Amino acid sequence: MLLPATRDSIARAAVLLRQGGVVAFPTETVYGLGALAFDARAVARIFEIKGRPSFDPLIVHVADRSMLQEVVGVVPAAGETLIERFWPGPLTLVLAKRPAVPGLVTAGLSTVAVRMSDHPVARGLLEAVGSPLAAPSANPFGRLSPTRAEHVARMLGDRVDLILDGGATTHGIESTIVALEPRPVLLRPGAIAAEQIEALIGPLERVTPASAVRAPGQLAQHYAPATPLRLIDPGLVPDPERRRAGVITLRDPYEGYSASRILSRRGDLREAAAALFEMLHALDALGLDRIDAAPVRESGLGLAIMDRLRRAASR
Ligand code: TXA
Ligand code: MG
Repeated sequence: MLLPATRDSIARAAVLLRQGGVVAFPTETVYGLGALAFDARAVARIFEIKGRPSFDPLIVHVADRSMLQEVVGVVPAAGETLIERFWPGPLTLVLAKRPAVPGLVTAGLSTVAVRMSDHPVARGLLEAVGSPLAAPSANPFGRLSPTRAEHVARMLGDRVDLILDGGATTHGIESTIVALEPRPVLLRPGAIAAEQIEALIGPLERVTPASAVRAPGQLAQHYAPATPLRLIDPGLVPDPERRRAGVITLRDPYEGYSASRILSRRGDLREAAAALFEMLHALDALGLDRIDAAPVRESGLGLAIMDRLRRAASR
């Protein structure tokens, strides 16, 4: 069931969640698929619905500091600095977990990924539930993250107890994930540029998907549309198959494709990141043979865009 997010539907969603249900809801990044973090059976349903392997840990969403304390113990000084600056907002921190957090949520790790969304629906829902929610992105495992309620409905439909529709998300790309101990590591580039974080706490170690043993979910192949996607050399000469293909680029149009999407006419990487999944969903719906993606510069949000495109291409 898909309902516009209102005070009433949020209250209804909260009741479903407290009964062990699974509800999709908007955040400022992408739509999440939520269940009570402390209810292992409800969390198991998230894995079932997503077809997600149980070695891939989930993000726990909290509404405030007291919920954070239910989930994690001591927050290191760098964590406090980042929380002060970026919460509520699209930054996820990996911190030492409290024993009460079910092992299923963290895939048996001693750490838990936590974030505090600034989306009014996510916040309203967490406040109505009164307890932390485990919520990964609301897509089948490995597929594109949803930036609209309709994307969730199309991909997961009846398998979810309720979908709260809060319109399109603002950032359009997932949160940035940072682990702090034993040293600060960028586990996933995302909606907050790494440079902004480094300006506050110093250099972040960058992990490549292959070396990311600390993030079992950082699999090389991920965020993929159903249509095969490849990264192209921007200087490539046109090939005759273009008529069966779509193209997605930052600002420069490419000739000869049957469908094309420009991420940002101004070449603005924030605007491009916000449009990325939205445009990939749209191209994916056209039944093309292939999607070509032109690379973007890897600074600021370009890092997150290229991370998603590389994973989408590595099927
Ligand atoms: O923007 C977001 O973060 C969205 C919204 C819904 O909050 N959520 C999201 O969740 O992207 P998900 O499950 O699709 O991605 C979470 C990532 C996974 O790749 C997982 O491996 C990693 O976080 N992760 C979770 N717990 C971890 C931990 N304890 N250590 C390292 N990585 C962890
Ligand atoms: Mg995901």
